[in-house]
Amino acid sequence: MTDTTAPAPRPGILDIAPYVGGKSAIAGVAEPMKLSSNENALGAGDKARAAYEAAIRNLAIYPDGRATKLRTAVAEHHGLEPERLIFGNGSDEVFALLNQTYLSPGDNIVTGEYGFLAYRISAMANEAEVKSAPEPNYKAEVDALLAQVDERTKIVYVSNPSNPTGSYNSGDEIRRLHAALPPSILLVVDEAYAEFVTEPDWETSFPLARDAQNVVVTRTFSKIHGLAGLRIGFGYAPVAVAEAVDRIRLPFNVSVPGIEAAVAALGDEAHVVASRELVQQWRPRLTQAIKGFGFDVLPSAGNFVLVKFADTAHATAASDFLNSKGIIVRPVGGYGLPDCLRITVGTDDQNRAVLDALSEFAGR
Ligand SMILES: Cc1ncc(COP(=O)(O)O)c(C=O)c1O
Repeated sequence: MTDTTAPAPRPGILDIAPYVGGKSAIAGVAEPMKLSSNENALGAGDKARAAYEAAIRNLAIYPDGRATKLRTAVAEHHGLEPERLIFGNGSDEVFALLNQTYLSPGDNIVTGEYGFLAYRISAMANEAEVKSAPEPNYKAEVDALLAQVDERTKIVYVSNPSNPTGSYNSGDEIRRLHAALPPSILLVVDEAYAEFVTEPDWETSFPLARDAQNVVVTRTFSKIHGLAGLRIGFGYAPVAVAEAVDRIRLPFNVSVPGIEAAVAALGDEAHVVASRELVQQWRPRLTQAIKGFGFDVLPSAGNFVLVKFADTAHATAASDFLNSKGIIVRPVGGYGLPDCLRITVGTDDQNRAVLDALSEFAGR
């Protein structure tokens, strides 16, 4: 029975399913291959590591609350206006800040059926509803998203490319979605995996955001730059949005080593190129080979592939089998895809190990 005298969380909090991150350990395996969280298989680049190590001299001081050094570097790198940037403890925090700034109880966000879970968690924490547009083809559909929009909708979230499906929306699709939305509704385009895309009709939404009053584009240092552990992401927003968010942002939400390493990472083009090439070389190879073993693989624009098995039991058996080989992949039942496993593109050796294991699993 619930103890009615105990402190009660605000409504909705206990309805939130706790986020389960990618597993990082297998009992009895000293160094498992962790391909469960779409991290950068090459790790952080040398320049970022050196900057992180140098930052040790400044651990006793608070970071610059405006992250000016990083703000300037990001603005220059991407050709953006510095005053329109919002920095967060990962882009996850940018979503949480937007939700907290714009959602009142009873409002809603709209996202795709298999959309990234972080949008939902903080929306629910703000007593907002999450309206999911069906993704029958594992891809966010403009008309399906628009059909969910109502008078209580405050934010529409699209990951482009999307996690965990790996699908993407073309520049035309994003523009069509934006054009059909009332200007009072924020459109957040999450481009966490932007650097891995090769499809020619994909476009960054930075130019769309530049000219609109209601578009936010987010990026992260967790993927292409290999700094997931440092938690740095940013949003490019209209000035009014950036200023509103800044009122609730905790003053020192990005750290001294995080700022330094991220600035250095932006200047490490060689690492960016190597990271991108690794993914762009292996993604089609993994896709083709795994299909050859008789499993379905969804087309992916990210640094991962989503493998679809015959059913949930089959996916679980495959995950267990990979674990027995020291490989951790991501079951995605939490996304409503219990018959699928998401596999991050790894190093050459890791990818070969995945293929060997799946080939053996298929032949059993
Ligand atoms: C679609 C998508 N957006 C955002 C993020 C979060 O990135 P960050 O590490 O910047 O919080 C992820 C991380 O997996 C992601 O898959």
